[in-house]
Parts: sequence; structure tokens; C-alpha cells
Amino acid sequence: METVERLEKLREAVDSLRTRGAVALVPTMGALHEGHLTLVREARGKAASVVVSIFVNPAQFGPNEDLGAYPRQLAEDSRLLQDEGVDLLWAPPVCEVYPEGFATTVSVSGVSEGLCGASRPGHFDGVATVVCKLFNQVRPDLAVFGEKDWQQLAVIRRMARDLDLVLPRAEAIYGVPTVREADGLALSSRNRYLSPEDRQSVAALPQAMREAIAAIGAGSAVAPTLAALEAHLLQAGFSSVDYAELADAATLAPLAELGERPARLLVAARIGGTRLIDNMPVDGTAGRVSDLS
Ligand code: PAF
Repeated sequence: METVERLEKLREAVDSLRTRGAVALVPTMGALHEGHLTLVREARGKAASVVVSIFVNPAQFGPNEDLGAYPRQLAEDSRLLQDEGVDLLWAPPVCEVYPEGFATTVSVSGVSEGLCGASRPGHFDGVATVVCKLFNQVRPDLAVFGEKDWQQLAVIRRMARDLDLVLPRAEAIYGVPTVREADGLALSSRNRYLSPEDRQSVAALPQAMREAIAAIGAGSAVAPTLAALEAHLLQAGFSSVDYAELADAATLAPLAELGERPARLLVAARIGGTRLIDNMPVDGTAGRVSDLS
């Protein structure tokens, strides 16, 4: 696996990979875990070459968020990617992504605004801007993201459609189902911040979500079911719930009841200083990326 840190070298390396066939990109912020490696394997099954980017993007962190403390472990991440047969690691310094004078922001309205967009103002502008840049830098035929960040995936696909992106096309942006621990907790780089006690308590999140989905599927009214979900989380030890919403899987517009279109349950809650997010399909369609069209 080759590692490059400069755009000029990246372009040469990708041009050379392209002679073998399709190139896939898996964008990450490092601190890799099994969830990321699952994305890499999915990419490997779809393309001749796999490029992984590791860039902790300052633009998607708010002023009171954990940019400084975000885990950075490039040597260990490199080893993991090498073992997965990744062809190229793109690990640019901040100045290669945001050179002096950088003045452009990609902002996707609508789908960016509720849920995490409401509790993390500017977050999705930072995500859309850096992903647009990473796409233009690497110019992959396809890209792979985790469904764990469902709203992020919806924002990126909307951006790709709206801007008529070509490398990759919106249809070539794939979502991969969330990888979970045995007790149902979604894998996340932030899980490492959980104390052993909190780690026990957080299994309540997927459990409460599954219960809510079963209740809504059985005909319970949405608003009281979501209120019961929040109460369950607070009882289990979460300090606050940023949101617990039933939403249209594609537009993320809040839903007061199930309709014809695929729906998703999305939750963000805090425990011991750590903010966890999760989402699940509600109507048995599995809410795959095709729902986002
Ligand atoms: O999901 C992430 O790791 C990041 O938000 C992404 C897509 C790499 C953009 O910085």
C-alpha cells in the first residue's frame, strides 16, 4: 500500500490505479474499527482498486466539540488498511485540503437542517465541503460510506445529485449497513470514550430503538412511542436525548405516522460526555441506500 500526503502525488498514483479498472474511495477520519474495515471490503468487492482517505476535518467540528481530542493513530490505521489489501492511503495535511485563502463552502439545505444539523450547526456544511473536495481530489468511480451516519449519507447523495457530480456519480455512492457489537451497540470511533459503566448502559440505545420500531410497526402512535423511547434512555443512564425522530428515509422530513415511503428511526443521546447516534429502518424495507434516491 502506498501512502501519499500531497495532491500531485495522489493524482499520479490514482492515474496509475485507474489503468487497472474502477477505483473506489472510502473516506474516513481514521481511528479505524471493524465498521470502517467492512466499508473497505465492500469497496474491494466493487472496484479493482481501493483508496482510503484519512483526514480529521476541522470544518465539521463545532467550537465546543472534540477536534483536538479526536483520536489520531495513523501508524496503526495504516497497518489495518495494509492487511485489508488497500492500494492507496490518502492522508493529506490540513494545508493540502484547506490551503491559505480557502473560501468555499458547500451547503446542502433541507436534508442537512434537522436532526444532527440542528444540534451541530455547520457540521454538514463541513462534511459536504470536505467530501466534495475529496471526490475532486481522488476522482473515484465509486465511494462507500457507512449507514451509521444516515443523515451524512443523505446529504452527500443530495450534493452529488444537485451538483451533477461525475466522479463519482450519485448512483455510485454506496451505503453499508451499520456494524454492531454483540449487544447491538453501533461501532463508532467515539465508543472508546465510554467508561466501563457507561459501556454497559449504552446497550439500552439499540434495545429501546428496536422496541419503539416494534411498537410503531404494531400500530402504536408515533409521538408517545418516541416519548417512551426517550424515557427509557434517561432511565438507563443517558444524561440527555438530542433527538429521537421518525423521519422519511430520503428527505429526513419528520413523520407523525408511517406512510408509503421508507421511514427511519434516528436517535442522538449523550452519556458521560459522549454523544452517540444510531438509526434503523422502521418498515422492514431495510432502508438501503436506494431509498435515498
Ligand atoms: O464519516 C466520516 O468519517 C466523516 O464525516 C467523513 C465522511 C470522512 C468526512 O470527513
